Amino acid sequence: MTEPLTTDPVAFPQDRTCPYHPPTAYDPLREARPLSRVSLFDGRTVWVVTGHGAARDLLADPRLSSDRTRPAFPAPTRRFAEVRNRRVALLGLDDPEHRIQRRMLVPSFTLKRIAGLRPRIQETVDRLLDRMERQGPPAELVDAFALPVPSMVICALLGVPYEDHDFFEEQSRRLLRGPTAADTEKAREALDAYFGTLIDRKHGGQGDGLLDELVRDRLSEGALDREELISLATILLVAGHETTANMISLGTFTLLRHPEQLAELRAEPALMPAAVEELLRFLSIADGLLRVAVEDIETAGTTIRAGEGVVFSTSVINRDEHTFPEPDDLDWHRSTRQHLAFGFGIHQCLGQNLARAEMEIALLSLFDRFPGLRLDAPADTIAFKPGDTIQGMLELPVTW
Ligand code: HEM
Repeated sequence: MTEPLTTDPVAFPQDRTCPYHPPTAYDPLREARPLSRVSLFDGRTVWVVTGHGAARDLLADPRLSSDRTRPAFPAPTRRFAEVRNRRVALLGLDDPEHRIQRRMLVPSFTLKRIAGLRPRIQETVDRLLDRMERQGPPAELVDAFALPVPSMVICALLGVPYEDHDFFEEQSRRLLRGPTAADTEKAREALDAYFGTLIDRKHGGQGDGLLDELVRDRLSEGALDREELISLATILLVAGHETTANMISLGTFTLLRHPEQLAELRAEPALMPAAVEELLRFLSIADGLLRVAVEDIETAGTTIRAGEGVVFSTSVINRDEHTFPEPDDLDWHRSTRQHLAFGFGIHQCLGQNLARAEMEIALLSLFDRFPGLRLDAPADTIAFKPGDTIQGMLELPVTW
């Protein structure tokens, strides 16, 4: 078995050097699969999982906890460390509490439910493209398209008024990458107050959003308390638009930088579901899943001790050449079923069917509407997101 690195641990997370490849500074981690050590901003050293098989085993292992209120839970940034004292619904819970919340939500995200939403997603996408066509060229694709598509869709699904989108998009942005912990805390308080009022308004109402259902069926009968429901609503809203928005913006940028693959896709649109899956693997935008060991775990010839932090670098895991030959190539014809871009185990992304439907419809319709779509600035001048957050484009100037 490969021994962990004995040289200085690589710092984690780091900014990407190219928006669609793992940072080159992670190269030593790729060479030291399946497990090595990284140092966090506070100087603490934690395990980093980089091999595909080890990642699946460990993400399914109940001896790794997602409870970020545990003192030894790894913090990727100072901001995260300072605000992690609060229990986070679903994503921050271990079983059995996690299972109880997850069961309440699963019926709203099944393939069948999401298939029923497709016409509505298409309508939203078409309306936004109409507006882009009327107002451009050029356009800034993040604001004009990549962000509003998932934002409108998750609002409709949850029963949140889209008119409030400026407010909650701004708070989500601050929550995920506010300049300071105090700013992040303020954003969280603002979202708490917003959802508290919204939930109170929904009492006794007949709305058909998921939050309406949860108020009617779960809050009223005591299966969830108000604070839990507020935390759940925040997770669903933030996870439901930030991530997909980043996949649409970075996915578009990546396609424009890979003209051969784009041409192939345009000639054969039936490849789109496979392309979305490959883009998920290739881009691995949620790069850095976090856990802490609550018992000793023997794995890959070493022992992860109770109380040690564990980070999963999905960008490195999804480029494991044992599972994905020629992993740095973007290839619509490879088998991608095993990618871990949505995580694995009990926390595997609840919204993955929705995310896939949104990406397929958004990317197909965008390139269909604007066959001449191209970047409106040199690629290396376009700003993308820093490594300590979900990866994506900060802006995407395009023309057609
Ligand atoms: C392409 C877009 C998306 C990506 C790449 C993504 C990625 C992920 C990943 C990696 C996890 C696991 C985190 C962990 O194990 O620590 C996760 C969990 C989650 N995602 Fe997504 N996600 C996406 C879209 C969505 C959407 C549209 C929703 C809609 C509601 C959503 C809701 C959630 C929720 C609620 C969880 C927590 C599940 C649990 O703890 O049981 N995600 N996502």
